[in-house]
Formats: sequence, C-alpha cells, structure tokens
Amino acid sequence: MSGLAPDSLTIQRGGGADLDEVMAVMADAFDPRFGEAWTRAQCAGILPLPGVILHVARRRGEALGFSLSRRAMDEAELLLIAVRRQASGQGIGGQLIARFVEDHRAAGAHHLHLEVRDGNPAVSLYTAHDFEIAGRRSRYYRGTDGELFDALTMVRMI
Ligand SMILES: CC(C)(COP(=O)(O)OP(=O)(O)OC[C@H]1O[C@@H](n2cnc3c(N)ncnc32)[C@H](O)[C@@H]1OP(=O)(O)O)[C@@H](O)C(=O)NCCC(=O)NCCS
Repeated sequence: MSGLAPDSLTIQRGGGADLDEVMAVMADAFDPRFGEAWTRAQCAGILPLPGVILHVARRRGEALGFSLSRRAMDEAELLLIAVRRQASGQGIGGQLIARFVEDHRAAGAHHLHLEVRDGNPAVSLYTAHDFEIAGRRSRYYRGTDGELFDALTMVRMI
C-alpha cells in the first residue's frame, strides 16, 4: 500500500522510456500555430545531457503533464511545461513548477529562468510562481504559417 488515494497525482522523474507519453501530451497541449512545441528528436537529444530533468505528472498511471528542465552550475532553465487540455486548470502545471523549483534547488540552483511566448496564458502561471519578466526576444517563435512572435524571458531567484 502506498497510502496514496487512487486518483491522486504523482510527479516522478522520467527518461527516454516516457518519450511516447511525453510527445502525446505535447501534441495535445501545444497549439501548433505558435511553434513552441519541440520535436521528438529535440527531446530525445537533450534527455541524456547532464543536469536535464524530465518530470512526468500521472494520475492512475496516465501521463497528464510533464516538464523538461536543465541546470548548469547554479542556473536552472524551465525548457518546456505542458498539461493535457482535458486536465488543465486543476493545478497540475503549478505542481510541476513546484517540483522543478524543489529539485533544482536541491541540486544547487539559485537562479531560475525561462522563455515564453508573449501572450501565452502561461505567463500568469509563472507570475503566480514568483517569476518576473526580465526581457524580451523579438520575433523569437515562428508559427506554422510563418508568423513571428516575441518571447519574454522570466527569472526567479531561489
Ligand atoms: C501552461 C500550462 C502548462 C498550465 O497547466 P495547468 O495545469 O492548466 O496549470 P494550473 O492549473 O496549475 O494553473 C492554471 C493557471 O495558469 C494560467 N493559465 C495557464 N494556461 C491557461 C489558459 N490556457 N487559459 C487561462 N489561464 C491559463 C492561469 O493563471 C491559471 O490560473 P487560475 O487557475 O487561477 O486561473 C498548460 O495550460 C499548457 O500545457 N499549455 C500549453 C503548453 C504551453 O504553452 N506551455 C508553456 C510554454 S512551455
């Protein structure tokens, strides 16, 4: 007996074996118009690198969300975070951010950063988790129809 309620959310570290589920969440969560999602090859390429952490959120064994992040020295970057549309608004994204912070803090990070498309509703999620806007990268994301979108850089000290 784990003591967990059967429908409680678990967040565990993952790896290459979770890539099919991660890509399914990615395809479901990201709107292809904005060009923010990564390809499978990009994900597979970064996973084995030092300091990279994949967190997978599951309920009843089903992958509902994930985050991908990496640390170098005392800096950690949140590279991707996604939650299936049917499960959004339930706090899973917030729990993934909390684990990102917790695990990289434990590994020695003091400075967190991320990039997000200007206008992505995730900006308010990051702000709620104490990230502040630090800069703007003009025309950083290229959407499927060639439209370009600015990126905001956000930071948080821990
Ligand atoms: C961003 C994302 C991971 C949030 O996951 P989530 O589980 O819904 O997040 P939570 O339930 O913990 O928090 C929701 C909060 O985030 C914000 N938010 C995130 N996405 C939102 C959306 N589509 N519409 C409205 N608010 C949104 C709101 O502030 C909301 O707060 P509220 O519940 O008090 O209104 C999810 O919407 C997603 O996968 N989006 C597509 C992928 C993406 O753009 N990722 C970020 C860039 S890598």
